[in-house]
Amino acid sequence: MSASRLTTLFVLTNALLGTAIAAPSPGCAANNTLPKGQTPGGDSVTVAFTQSDGTARDYRIHIPSTYVSTTPAELIFSFHGHGTGASGQETISQLSNEAFNPSGIAVYPQGKSDAWQGAPYAVTGINDIEFVKDMISNFTETYCIDTSKIYASGMSIGGGFTATLACDSSVNTQIAAFAPVSGAYYINTTTCAPTAVEIPCDKGDRIVPVIEFHGDADTTIPYGGESKNGDCLPEVSHWVRSWSYRDGLGLKNITTYDLYSGKVTRSKFPNNSSDPNFGLVQHYKTAGLGHIWPSTNSTSYDATPIIMEFFGNHTL
Ligand SMILES: *[C@@H]1O[C@H](CO)[C@@H](O)[C@H](O)[C@H]1NC(C)=O
Ligand SMILES: *[C@@H]1O[C@H](CO)[C@@H](O)[C@H](O)[C@H]1NC(C)=O
Ligand SMILES: *[C@@H]1O[C@H](CO)[C@@H](O)[C@H](O)[C@H]1NC(C)=O
Ligand SMILES: *[C@@H]1O[C@H](CO)[C@@H](O)[C@H](O)[C@H]1NC(C)=O
Ligand SMILES: *[C@@H]1O[C@H](CO)[C@@H](O)[C@H](O)[C@H]1NC(C)=O
Ligand SMILES: *[C@@H]1O[C@H](CO)[C@@H](O)[C@H](O)[C@H]1NC(C)=O
Ligand SMILES: *[C@@H]1O[C@H](CO)[C@@H](O)[C@H](O)[C@H]1NC(C)=O
Repeated sequence: MSASRLTTLFVLTNALLGTAIAAPSPGCAANNTLPKGQTPGGDSVTVAFTQSDGTARDYRIHIPSTYVSTTPAELIFSFHGHGTGASGQETISQLSNEAFNPSGIAVYPQGKSDAWQGAPYAVTGINDIEFVKDMISNFTETYCIDTSKIYASGMSIGGGFTATLACDSSVNTQIAAFAPVSGAYYINTTTCAPTAVEIPCDKGDRIVPVIEFHGDADTTIPYGGESKNGDCLPEVSHWVRSWSYRDGLGLKNITTYDLYSGKVTRSKFPNNSSDPNFGLVQHYKTAGLGHIWPSTNSTSYDATPIIMEFFGNHTL
């Protein structure tokens, strides 16, 4: 029997037994030490990095206190908004807070000029998708990572970039689930009908899990969409339904009203709670919330634990 057939059999057997199988990365080895300055549970550090086209980059990284080089850890990317930067994103997402993220390595990449590929104001010629692929390739060697548990999240244009990754079939096969928050989903078209605009996305064959959070009082990236910076921002529920549709989950959802002190309307797709894919696409619309990452500082709930639970339900 060939190696790939054996692997298939192994995966199938484990799936049938319901066993959660970790996919240890090449960095899982007893003698693999952490890079200088990084310690389990220590302060986050900023690391200089060279992407494969030679562009100088950097990111912040947090190693959880539970980390050992023989136990595969989750890898969670958190992309900042315009003007917030990597360390600001660490604060607002709280993904280095072990009360929210006890065992995952949290990474906060820094965008050039605080922007990401796909933003109308992004620095031209910067390949952020390649940056992400290069980081994944580096981190899976540098650390012991469960390659079935790599996740992406982000705020505002960082949420937009999270969606760009979800729509890229050359990288969405490496990232198990996506969580954009108050995302800026810029579409490069001057004719902007926010509830009808076609949302370009080449996601490939994968059914991609996506959870989206947006406030209905967001004035920076309005829920209803608008023309902005020469591009088009789609109406947010239209954007979410487009994801459900392209994932084959239909256009209707099961809606729960008045969650979290009445502020949140949650939509879960598909419109069938018995479907094995139920909840694969989700949306949290928060009444009265502006352009912010939902936290109990700003509203009646924290988005981060909901994102972590969503990530925990999805592995590659
Ligand atoms: C770690 O151990 C492996 C196999 O035991 C060996 O091939 C490798 O060179 C070692 N690496 C280091 C950094 O010592
Ligand atoms: C990963 O990136 C770090 C930081 O730039 C660098 O020191 C290290 O050599 C890289 N490792 C690999 C395996 O590419
Ligand atoms: C909430 O406020 C506390 C206290 O000011 C601060 O430490 C924390 O970082 C804030 N959390 C978020 C998500 O902004
Ligand atoms: C946006 O579309 C215009 C017209 O099709 C094109 O010239 C331009 O390069 C596009 N911009 C980006 C950032 O893709
Ligand atoms: C889910 O369905 C409700 C009720 O029809 C609708 O108001 C809401 O906009 C839907 N959610 C999304 C994201 O389309
Ligand atoms: C789906 O939504 C429709 C209303 O649009 C409802 O009548 C139907 O019962 C729903 N299906 C399921 C399985 O919940
Ligand atoms: C809901 O999903 C279950 C499980 O796949 C299926 O048996 C059932 O027919 C579906 N219901 C509807 C109304 O499509």
